[in-house]
Amino acid sequence: MRAVLSKTPGGPETLVVEDVLDPTPKAGEVIIEVKAVGINYPDTLIIEDKYQFRPERPFSPGAEVAGVVEAVGEGVKGVRKGDRVIAVPGWGGLVERLAVRAETVIPIPDAMSFEEAAALIMTYGTSYYALKDRAQLKAGETLLVLGAAGGVGAAAVELGKAMGARVVAAASTNDKVEFALELGADNGLIYPSGPMDKAAQKALSGEFKLATGRDGADVVYDAVGGDYADPALRAMDWNGRYLVVGFPAGIPSLPLNLTLLKSVSVIGVFWGAAVMRDPKAHAANMAELMQMYADGKIRPRVSKIFPLEKAGEAIKALSDRQALGKIVVTVES
Ligand SMILES: NC(=O)c1ccc[n+]([C@@H]2O[C@H](COP(=O)([O-])OP(=O)(O)OC[C@H]3O[C@@H](n4cnc5c(N)ncnc54)[C@H](OP(=O)(O)O)[C@@H]3O)[C@@H](O)[C@H]2O)c1
Repeated sequence: MRAVLSKTPGGPETLVVEDVLDPTPKAGEVIIEVKAVGINYPDTLIIEDKYQFRPERPFSPGAEVAGVVEAVGEGVKGVRKGDRVIAVPGWGGLVERLAVRAETVIPIPDAMSFEEAAALIMTYGTSYYALKDRAQLKAGETLLVLGAAGGVGAAAVELGKAMGARVVAAASTNDKVEFALELGADNGLIYPSGPMDKAAQKALSGEFKLATGRDGADVVYDAVGGDYADPALRAMDWNGRYLVVGFPAGIPSLPLNLTLLKSVSVIGVFWGAAVMRDPKAHAANMAELMQMYADGKIRPRVSKIFPLEKAGEAIKALSDRQALGKIVVTVES
C-alpha cells in the first residue's frame, strides 16, 4: 500500500510517498481502509519533532482518519467488516490501510461524508472539551475566539453558539472573519497578521474590548498565542477563563498581575492527554457532538481537498495559514 512518510525531521517538503507492507490485524485490532484524513496543526509540528509526541521514524503523519473496516482481528466485538468508522490514532493516518484498536473506533452516522467525518473529532473534540469541561462556558457569556477561522477556532465558534454564548470571532483577514460570521459568530474583528509592538498590542486590546462589550470576555479561546495573548487577557471580564489551546504564533508569556486584578483563571487544554486519562468522559463528549451534528448545530467545513500524493501540500497550506475551517486529504485505493 502507499504511505506518506516522514523519514527525516523537517517541513512538508521532506515527506515522501512510498510503498510499504499492508498491515494485518492483531487480536483486538481492526484494519481501516482509509478514505479521508483530516489535517491538523499538530501534523506540521510532529514532522519537525516539535510536538508533544515524537514517533520513531519512518512514520506517517495524519492524526485522524475516516474509512471502512476492511478486516477484524481475533476477539473483536461490536465492529464489523464494512462499518464506516472514524479513528484518531494521533499519527500514522496518511496511508491506504491502518490498524487501530477496535474499541477506539467511532461509527460514522449515515448522513456524514468521509470528508466531514475525518474533519470532526480533533477540532470539535478539543474545543468541546475546552469550552465545556475546562472553561464551563455558560449560556449568555461572552466568548472571544482567536484564530476563529482555523480548525479548532471554527469549531469553538460553532460550539460556543450551540452552548448559548455570545461569540466574538477574531482572525487575520476579512475573508476569515466573514467565514466565522457565517458559522454563527455574533461579531468579528480583524487583527494584525504579524508581530506587534506594545502600542499595536494596546490598540488591539482596545478593539477586543469594544467587540466583546463593556465588561470584556468571560472566556478567551486562544489557539494562536504569540503577541495576541496579552491583548486578549487585558480584554477579559471579572472571573474570566483564559483557555490555552495552541501557539502557531509563538509561546506567549502572560503578565500574571492581570489575572489577579480580574480574578482570571488561566486554563491549560491538552485534549489528547485528557482522552487517554478519562476515556468515559471522552465517549460522552463524542456522543454529545454526534447529537449536535444530527441536530444541525455543528458541521465541519472542508475548504480544500488534496489527494494522498499531495499530502505534503495539504500540510503546507495549513502551516501557511490558508485554511478556512478544515483541509482534508482523500485516499483513492
Ligand atoms: N490543546 C490541544 O489539545 C490541541 C488540540 C488540537 C490542536 N491544538 C493546537 O491548536 C492550534 C490550532 O490548530 P488547528 O489544527 O486548528 O490549526 P489551523 O487550522 O492551522 O489554525 C491555526 C490558526 O492560527 C492562526 N495563526 C496565527 N499565527 C499563525 C502562524 N504564524 N502560522 C499559522 N497559523 C497562525 C491562523 O489564523 P489567523 O490567520 O486568523 O491568525 C490559523 O487559522 C495549534 O497550535 C495546535 O497545535 C491544540
